[in-house]
Amino acid sequence: MARRRQIYEGKAKILYEGPEPGTLIQYFKDDATAFNAQKKGTINGKGVLNNRISEHVFTLLDNIGVPTHFIRRLNMREQLIRQVEIVPIEVVVRNVAAGSLSKRLGLEEGVKLPRTIIEYYLKDDALGDPMITDEHIAAFGWASQEEMHDIADLAIRVNDFLSGLFAGIGIRLVDFKLEFGRIWDNDYSRIILADEISPDGCRLWDMESGEKLDKDRFRRDLGGEVEAYQEVARRLGLLPEG
Ligand code: C5P
Repeated sequence: MARRRQIYEGKAKILYEGPEPGTLIQYFKDDATAFNAQKKGTINGKGVLNNRISEHVFTLLDNIGVPTHFIRRLNMREQLIRQVEIVPIEVVVRNVAAGSLSKRLGLEEGVKLPRTIIEYYLKDDALGDPMITDEHIAAFGWASQEEMHDIADLAIRVNDFLSGLFAGIGIRLVDFKLEFGRIWDNDYSRIILADEISPDGCRLWDMESGEKLDKDRFRRDLGGEVEAYQEVARRLGLLPEG
């Protein structure tokens, strides 16, 4: 069989040509990077867990009417997705002060924010994903006003749903990152949720102990990365109770 064509290789995933036009295969690697790839490592088994967690979350989001690129999981590390034109913006939703927000504004980590905050970052590794505002997005045409309206609306719906989902299993959804894509139908396009939702791109804290169950374990050299990701999968009902 001819080796399938690789479309793109990112830090944690590879995209291959899919079986039908308009589809891609998303492969989840074990590679982990942080601080714009200045720190690199491998978390054995991470790809398998993220594939499963993202499948679960995207399926639940689809059930509540959030359009996503996810079609179906193919195997341990791969899922079939719809091909989209990625909007070059990383959308970060924050409920609790942590990470770069705490650093930038001098806020103590763990303090509940007065309201949910949405931030935008330009997807540009060479520039280190700089923070941008609606003004930059409009001025440089990275997305239309209508698309940004849809993106903000979807981000809030995802946040509301995920906050409840995780609260139900004793996890505080501190913040997370989303990516969106355009689907074209002749001259008309619409926005759908793309990429993945997994502990790689979320801050998930145990509600009782405050223990970090996400990629901060890797970023901050805390150890126990796989165990943390497994714990999230287990609480979501994706692993046998142990
Ligand atoms: O680092 P910062 O505090 O800005 O991250 C906010 C949230 O966005 C965290 O949950 C982090 O995992 C996620 N994020 C991401 N990819 C990036 C930047 C942030 O998944 N490139």
